[in-house]
Amino acid sequence: MDFKADAQRMEKIVSLCKRRGFIFQSSEIYGGLNGAWDYGPLGVELKRNVKNYWWRVMVHERDDSDLMVDCRLTGKRFRADQIPAQSGTVYRFDQARDVIPPESAFEILVSWAADLLPPGESVSRKDSIRLALLVSDHRKFNLPKSNTTPLSIYEFFVEFAKKMSSQPDISENEVDDFLQAYNSPPPETVSGDSIRLLQRKGEDKATILKRAEAFYQLRNIHVPMMWPTTEDVTDSRDFNAENGAELTPPRPFNLMFRTNIGATESEDSIAYLRPETAQSIFVQFKNILEVSRKKLPFGIAQIGKAFRNEINPRNFTFRSREFEQMELEYFCRAEEGMKLLDYWLEERLKFYENIGISRGRLHVKTVPDEERAFYSKGTYDIEFDFPFGFQELEGVAYRTDYDLLQHQKASGKSLEYFDEETKQRFVPHVVEPSAGVDRTVLALICEAYSEDEAPDEKGKMETRLVLRFHPRMAPIKCGIFPLLKNNNQLVAKAKEIVGLLRTHMNVFYDESGAIGRRYRRQDEIGTPFGVTVDFETLGEKDAALRDTVTLRERDSMKQKRVAIKDLAGILSARIS
Ligand code: GAP
Repeated sequence: MDFKADAQRMEKIVSLCKRRGFIFQSSEIYGGLNGAWDYGPLGVELKRNVKNYWWRVMVHERDDSDLMVDCRLTGKRFRADQIPAQSGTVYRFDQARDVIPPESAFEILVSWAADLLPPGESVSRKDSIRLALLVSDHRKFNLPKSNTTPLSIYEFFVEFAKKMSSQPDISENEVDDFLQAYNSPPPETVSGDSIRLLQRKGEDKATILKRAEAFYQLRNIHVPMMWPTTEDVTDSRDFNAENGAELTPPRPFNLMFRTNIGATESEDSIAYLRPETAQSIFVQFKNILEVSRKKLPFGIAQIGKAFRNEINPRNFTFRSREFEQMELEYFCRAEEGMKLLDYWLEERLKFYENIGISRGRLHVKTVPDEERAFYSKGTYDIEFDFPFGFQELEGVAYRTDYDLLQHQKASGKSLEYFDEETKQRFVPHVVEPSAGVDRTVLALICEAYSEDEAPDEKGKMETRLVLRFHPRMAPIKCGIFPLLKNNNQLVAKAKEIVGLLRTHMNVFYDESGAIGRRYRRQDEIGTPFGVTVDFETLGEKDAALRDTVTLRERDSMKQKRVAIKDLAGILSARIS
């Protein structure tokens, strides 16, 4: 694996997404909201295509699936106290020992930097950066080394430097120097800085050492130059084995977003944004069973938002704090569970192939016993070959009857199914294919991104950036171009074609710039077809060609002549 090439590829993808309006960072004009993303005009179309196709194959084209109400808030009564614990899903991270989220770390750093200044003066970026360097020595924060999980210290300090760049008193070079220094921080310099940072003009060494000692002791920062540790410690879990830093006691980390419902904030009004769509399906199982009168096996499907306060959102949209899931809970008899697990794995792999993700880029991981949730009898992870490595796109899990049993116990309501034929009552088992909309969109963009060579206006070869989306997924299906924008007849004919096609698909009319440039603009956003209205369309050269257009294919760049009346049929067959 070529890490550099892959990182560059990812960078280009992120930049294209912003430049062409697929995905923007949330609240960017205010400095950005970590772990949240907004979809631009093309991103929204792409996302909609993914969800619509999932809905089509998982619900409309099946006799055994039903849709599910969309409910986002989960009330305390049935949620906070019960579901996480009962469903077996771990929403609390006890292992998040002494890792401080970047936002808090940033605030603490700024407040420390402010301490160094006389009252009334603003925080100097320079001082803050030097302080950041100092504490980046993996001590007080005990942040893991760069490029380790769960928190990338490098990302944190890049973010830190970015925020500091809003301060007027430091140059871009100094920010760059800081980042470089951070990449390979020599420990002595960091320790030296720890003292220099606090030094006042003309102060002698003894005074500054005394003041520095008081400053750091008060903040419980270990500065090795002042307090070297030589003691060997074995069989202890109190220190970080990598850097010797003392660990704080474990702290619970709440993975769910808490809010209050209603006008008053009290213990009784606490609610949580749901961290997965699945649980509301189990909670509504009885109602849906009654209204749909389905027979086992059958599924309940839902697409909707989920919210998780991820410790370390990263890799663009891959790990976000707000995302969408497409989940199917497929209820069955116990004896069918393992067979259906394999059946759903194959169905889901077919889905990804049908939206344009090649099987070769997918990997099926059989989750080993020790990693599987205790209630699951079998789980597969479908992974995709992202530029940052093979990562989970979807989980397919046989969750047994665990969820329904837990809700039955907690609510006191029967969640049993009555089998008319055998006259038996039992709690059904469930197999769950659970996919992420945002991860699928990201996988589609990564899979589609490519660069090749094509001639420019003068026939000189140039690099062409093209998103090779499957036509079914492409945000815009067809670009429509009059050859010249100042010819009324060409423009009128092109607009007539827009009217003709727009009821069948999403099309885009473009009359500005040379035709080659218009093709390139559509290639870059993955539009699979382009229709050009030229003088032959008007029948000026050959009457037999009247009302025909040039149809260009994005991938092969081949062009052919087709009659306008056949366009809708030809294109619809390719995009359905
Ligand atoms: N109901 C089972 C469940 O929620 P999960 O593996 O936690 O299982 C299922 O989530 C899918 O949801 C993942 O495979 C992924 O596609 C998506 N997903 C989970 N956490 C996500 C996050 N923080 N950001 C984006 N997508 C996420």
